[in-house]
Amino acid sequence: MQVTKTIKATRDQIREWKKAGYSIGLVPTMGFLHEGHASLIKKCREENDKVVVSVFVNPTQFGPNEDLEDYPRDFERDCALCESIGADLIFHPEPEEMYQDACAYVSINTLSDTLCGKTRPIHFKGVCTVVSKLFNIVTPDNAYFGQKDAQQLAIIRKMVKDLNFDIRIVGCPIIREEDGLAKSSRNTYLNSEERKAALCLSRAVRKGQEIISDGCISESVLKEMREIVESEPLARIDYISVVDALTMQPVDQVDRDVLVAMAVYIGKTRLIDNFSYEVQK
Ligand code: PAF
Repeated sequence: MQVTKTIKATRDQIREWKKAGYSIGLVPTMGFLHEGHASLIKKCREENDKVVVSVFVNPTQFGPNEDLEDYPRDFERDCALCESIGADLIFHPEPEEMYQDACAYVSINTLSDTLCGKTRPIHFKGVCTVVSKLFNIVTPDNAYFGQKDAQQLAIIRKMVKDLNFDIRIVGCPIIREEDGLAKSSRNTYLNSEERKAALCLSRAVRKGQEIISDGCISESVLKEMREIVESEPLARIDYISVVDALTMQPVDQVDRDVLVAMAVYIGKTRLIDNFSYEVQK
């Protein structure tokens, strides 16, 4: 497995692989890899001749008071995990390599105005910019993203369609701890009391999945989910919402495919979770 730090070295290798006729899969990550990432890399391994993983804590997707400095990093462990799954290349640039004096950005309207985009107004502009850059550097045939970041996945799909990237986007299921907590690099911020409290997210998701049905009123689902989270003293809801699965706009009634998504602060740590629901066709 190779590690590249520059755009040029990455492009040189990709060019060779393309010349040899290999298909290329990309798994974009911010490192501190866990089993959620491992599932993306495994899927990528199954579907492509060459597997590229990017490990880059992208500064442009963090707001001024967010956790850019504290974001967990362990590049050696990331390399070992990628190697054990059979990745071919890790692209691990420094921020200067990616941005230098950049002033061109990629942003998306409407889909980024709701849910996480409301609380984190610059987040998706940073995500769209870095993902576009990675797509241009790696030029993958397929790119893999987790359903845990469901709004991000919807935004990337729309960006790929609107900007005509010739890349297949593959969404992969949420991977959970045995007790239900969705795997996240940020889980490492939780102390043991907060870790227990964090289970209110997955409990609310399970309840939502139990009670949602075609045509039901969104508020009736949200009310029961909210009650579960609000009964946990360490939890503070940022949002719980039912939105159209494609546009990310709130819907009053489950009369189309929807995403039920939430962000909840457990102490200072902001966690997200969600489920998708497809109406019967
Ligand atoms: O999901 C993430 O880890 C990041 O948002 C991504 C897609 C790697 C862009 O920095």
